[in-house]
Amino acid sequence: MNIFDSRTPYRSRGFYVRMRLLQNTRHSRNPEKSFWYRFFKWLLLFSLAFYFFSSFFITHTKPTTTTFISKATVSSSKASRVLIEELSTKPKSPEGSLKGMKVYVYDLPSKYNTYWLSNERCSNHLFASEVAIHKVLMTSDVRTLDPWDADFFFVPVYVSCNFSKVNGFPDISHARPLLAAAVKHISSQLPFWNRSLGSDHIFVASHDFGSCFHTMEDMAMADGVPEFLRNSIILQTFGVKYKHPCQEVENVAIPPYVSPENVRSTVEKSPLTGRRKIFAFFRGKMEVHPKNISGRFYSKRVRTMILQKYGNNRRFYLRRHRLAGYQSEIANSIFCLAPLGWAPWSPRLVESVVLGCVPVIISDGIRLPFPSAIPWAEISLSVAEKDVKKLGKILEHVAATNLTTIQKNLWDPKVRRALLFNNPMEEGDATFQVLVAISEKLDRSHKRSKVSSQ
Ligand SMILES: *[C@@H]1O[C@H](CO)[C@@H](O)[C@H](O)[C@H]1NC(C)=O
Ligand SMILES: *[C@@H]1O[C@H](CO)[C@@H](O)[C@H](O)[C@H]1NC(C)=O
Ligand SMILES: *[C@@H]1O[C@H](CO)[C@@H](O)[C@H](O)[C@H]1NC(C)=O
Ligand SMILES: *[C@@H]1O[C@H](CO)[C@@H](O)[C@H](O)[C@H]1NC(C)=O
Repeated sequence: MNIFDSRTPYRSRGFYVRMRLLQNTRHSRNPEKSFWYRFFKWLLLFSLAFYFFSSFFITHTKPTTTTFISKATVSSSKASRVLIEELSTKPKSPEGSLKGMKVYVYDLPSKYNTYWLSNERCSNHLFASEVAIHKVLMTSDVRTLDPWDADFFFVPVYVSCNFSKVNGFPDISHARPLLAAAVKHISSQLPFWNRSLGSDHIFVASHDFGSCFHTMEDMAMADGVPEFLRNSIILQTFGVKYKHPCQEVENVAIPPYVSPENVRSTVEKSPLTGRRKIFAFFRGKMEVHPKNISGRFYSKRVRTMILQKYGNNRRFYLRRHRLAGYQSEIANSIFCLAPLGWAPWSPRLVESVVLGCVPVIISDGIRLPFPSAIPWAEISLSVAEKDVKKLGKILEHVAATNLTTIQKNLWDPKVRRALLFNNPMEEGDATFQVLVAISEKLDRSHKRSKVSSQ
């Protein structure tokens, strides 16, 4: 089963083949329009169409039905309803539900954005939502080319693509000057920034501490949100439920970027409802002796505790290094640990949900993306950082009681679709959820306030 497949490519591929065939039949023989000729032509077309249709159905629906039923977690009628829903979720007009909102996308000089795409990593790494959202907006129906008609203004600056030569991580020390230059540019060229002091302008801050533009929390907190961005709307991966200097700005919590294509190919190989051999999975940085870096320890030493306590437990599959094929390991796991790193969030949140592994979130106070679309409490487990030593018992208990319920909620295609930035946008996907969240801030639209005060 592959819930991420959009149906259109199949339809258009079939159409393409059909057109080719029509052309071939037209050109290959002399156009003898006898009854038999037409009869066989249509028979051929009909059987081909049937073949494509049925092969689509066999490859895409049968595994789902059988595994769903054999798991006996869902009644067959429910399973078929899920299937029907999956097959008919192509957006009628996804933008229809967004209150007619219009977004203007600034056309900035390439040094602010597309220049960085020469490095392929720029559009694929975990901070790449800054690229994805921009690309998707360019072809979206909410985009307007007339800034006077816009409710919001999107400022496309890619700040995470200047990869450090030393360790290969994004060097975001140039983020603030780059953004400041972009704001100077747009405010001197067009009247819209000055008109609202930026309050209807949207930026993406997709790295560790979001709108603070720093990778270390103490420095991020000391710097705070740059002065010139404090009126604007920031789409940021960082989010906590308590007061924090890095979210003292109108903001929307967004998921980190995970390539939809990679997920699709993993799900094709390891179907969601297939057998999951690994009980509890974690792969990533786990320091044996974490260093005290200006008073802070990586992952608040949570990952170190996990390694100490469960490193030799056979039900825990813990590896200290990332590996190219790790997505298939997630797809073969029941529980996937998502402990904090330096920041509270990590790409594991997205990877485990989209690959159907129950996320075990160990990150006190984290604010998760799109709470109105994703019922996080029903699809994941939250374990307090101080309880990490009881992890084994907690997971055993859930496995013996409500695991099937959680998995059933988690495997809902709607939930999983909401975390991926598809291009083009699909109804309900991550960019769509971003637009829904922005459409709830239409009171900031200069255009609308003018209309209503007249
Ligand atoms: C990339 O970041 C480095 C380090 O902050 C900086 O010196 C350099 O100017 C940046 N590159 C560009 C093209 O802005
Ligand atoms: C916006 O304000 C700035 C600072 O006051 C000014 O330099 C700039 O010319 C203004 N922009 C426009 C388009 O008037
Ligand atoms: C970590 O280092 C800071 C100084 O940077 C020090 O004040 C603190 O006591 C240290 N904490 C531990 C647990 O060693
Ligand atoms: C499953 O059980 C755990 C532990 O008892 C509980 O914390 C969690 O809320 C339950 N989840 C669901 C979806 O029922």
